Amino acid sequence: DTLQSRTLDGIAKYINDGKAKRIVVMTGAGISTSAGIPDFRSPDTGLYANLARLDLPYAEAVFDISYFRKNPTPFYTLAQELYPGKYRPTITHSFIRLLHEKGLLLKLFTQNIDCLEREAGVPGDKIVEAHGSFARQSCIDCKSSYPDDKIKEHIQNKTIPRCLKPTCDGLVKPEIVFFGEQLPSDFFDNRDLPSEADLCVVMGTSLTVQPFASLPGFCSEGTPRVLINMEKVGGLGSRPDDVLLLGDCDTGVRNLAKACGWEQELEELWSK
Ligand code: OAD
Repeated sequence: DTLQSRTLDGIAKYINDGKAKRIVVMTGAGISTSAGIPDFRSPDTGLYANLARLDLPYAEAVFDISYFRKNPTPFYTLAQELYPGKYRPTITHSFIRLLHEKGLLLKLFTQNIDCLEREAGVPGDKIVEAHGSFARQSCIDCKSSYPDDKIKEHIQNKTIPRCLKPTCDGLVKPEIVFFGEQLPSDFFDNRDLPSEADLCVVMGTSLTVQPFASLPGFCSEGTPRVLINMEKVGGLGSRPDDVLLLGDCDTGVRNLAKACGWEQELEELWSK
């Protein structure tokens, strides 16, 4: 099935004709910017453009495991700002929930560590947190887990937690994936799922970080891939069935929901 037109209405028709029953969604920091959380790479507003105060050799060093071993202070200076709990999901998060409610969501792959997908009501077993989360923390040397209440204190006070095993004393880090670390096994266990999808929706990511960036490429030829993003990224648009909805994603999902006849349901889910 090829789409008649590479447009929003073409996608809405494809969905309403019942051709999209296994949708994979892939997200990044751009879906949370309207919640008040900066993304990483937007030129002026992105996190990496605003780290001068941390005196880093290069911006990504704040999330680099070798750098962290030598100097964990910049990460722990920032961790309080990154810590989940202060923000409300956006209508884009609710759109993913709506796909789930309609029984159409095969899997959500997210790079985000803000937990807003869960908060919007997407069940945990539908989410692959490809870059981990703040849900757990452990010693980077002996891997022992570290208590929640204690890491919260350290993050609040901007101090550096150390392993509680007397013989270890290694640095403790939330289990968010740093550059130089493996992604969680859940990512590798599910990375073939896009090949089974009948629709792919990519939102709010620059698709610059591997191996996540390769996920849309696992979709079969002929499976429509919709990009809802400020800018064109990751070679999306190169296949005949790719659809580019360039602009902010909250507007994009509202327009798509409207074209599907879901506008009111979406607004209701979001305002709950
Ligand atoms: P980036 O900051 O690299 O990309 C965000 C993308 O979202 C950009 O293409 C923006 O143009 C777009 N964007 C921003 N606001 C938007 C909005 N309101 N509507 C639509 N699009 C919007 O963030 P990620 O792709 O998530 O990893 O970054 C990937 C990884 O790099 C992160 O998970 C993090 C980072 O380093 C680690 O730290 C391991």
